[in-house]
Amino acid sequence: MAREITVEAVLNALGRVNYPGYATDIVSLGVIEAVEPLATGGGFAVVVRQATERDEVIHELAGAINGTLTRELGVRRVELRVRRLEAELGEKTGRVRLEGTRYVVAVASGKGGVGKSTVAANLALALHRLGMTVGLLDADIYGPSVPMMFGVGEERPRAAGGQNFYPVERYGVKLISMGFFLTDKTPVIWRGPMVMGAVRQFLKDTLWGTLDFLIVDLPPGTGDAQLTLAQQVALDGAVIVTTPRDVALLDATRAARMLHQLHCPVIGVVENMSYFVCPDCGERDELFGAGGGAKLALAERTRVLAQIPIHLEVREAGDAGMPIVLARPDHPASRAFMEVARRVLAAMPKEETSHVLGVPIGTVRSRLSRGRTLLRSVLARL
Ligand SMILES: Nc1ncnc2c1ncn2[C@@H]1O[C@H](COP(=O)(O)OP(=O)(O)OP(=O)(O)O)[C@@H](O)[C@H]1O
Ligand SMILES: [Mg+2]
Repeated sequence: MAREITVEAVLNALGRVNYPGYATDIVSLGVIEAVEPLATGGGFAVVVRQATERDEVIHELAGAINGTLTRELGVRRVELRVRRLEAELGEKTGRVRLEGTRYVVAVASGKGGVGKSTVAANLALALHRLGMTVGLLDADIYGPSVPMMFGVGEERPRAAGGQNFYPVERYGVKLISMGFFLTDKTPVIWRGPMVMGAVRQFLKDTLWGTLDFLIVDLPPGTGDAQLTLAQQVALDGAVIVTTPRDVALLDATRAARMLHQLHCPVIGVVENMSYFVCPDCGERDELFGAGGGAKLALAERTRVLAQIPIHLEVREAGDAGMPIVLARPDHPASRAFMEVARRVLAAMPKEETSHVLGVPIGTVRSRLSRGRTLLRSVLARL
């Protein structure tokens, strides 16, 4: 007689299957919703939560699940049920559209320390300077830096009844960061599902009000939080930050691949710490080599949005709690950040775009529903 295979054994086996392109298993990621013995006997039904709109990823996942259960465990029949998110969320794309937010743009990088948070903060402020209403979500729960960069002292998000809270507002930008909720006693090591829970809560419970842009400072790398975001929210695009060094570029390529796989359009590459301008002689020095960002952009069929010079003042501005775009608008780095913002704005999907003073301000639909934003945008440019 064949040995009885338990649901627990099936779950254990599935815990060894990684999500395609990830180093994390599908059980930890919450992709597996249920495992049930088939009514007819002889096998199991595995209910998978759809995490991507790309069929090839689902096929690869199906193959891996099937292979593991039949070969390793000896299950005779595996029935895979993919639960599409659209049924749950009632959205064509299967992802949440943040109510009242027009565009959600992520700032990503393959590795840490390349200036992702600096780019996210300055991009948010640059878009605000262009008359946009902007929110900044610091989804980097391992190293949140938004509170420091915006000089938020003791202020914390205000409770708004129920689970909800209002973001902190600084320099006209609405901010939410894990840094607002962490204490010295919070464990630094979070497990996958906890990461997902935190990001989900950020997205769902923050009362952003009406936003033209929500900029998301993603944690570095290609792990759980990125996957969660793509599952939870319809990202309109992502900006990849890299330095011109080859090692950084390799990681950035990985980030670009992840974004493609998650169905998130790559708006372009920001090459940070690109060159150094000698303060004495004004000469331009390419410290880390030249043309790295362009190489990456070419390989990933995207483009370089701007090259940001390496400059002590960029760091000092961030450390002092007022990013360079605001502290020194005339600085070469600030001009480069403004260029990034203009290009991001231009890259956003538009249905019937109307132009107000040369800046595209949303669609006819959003114009009707967001008269106030429009008015504010126009006033800010006068
Ligand atoms: N163009 C620049 N010129 C000078 N310093 C810079 C520049 N860009 C970023 N920095 C500095 O480099 C350090 C790392 O930048 P930042 O925190 O933005 O990187 P990150 O990619 O978000 O890092 P992490 O992985 O830690 O989140 C900071 O001290 C920042 O002020
Ligand atoms: Mg950072």
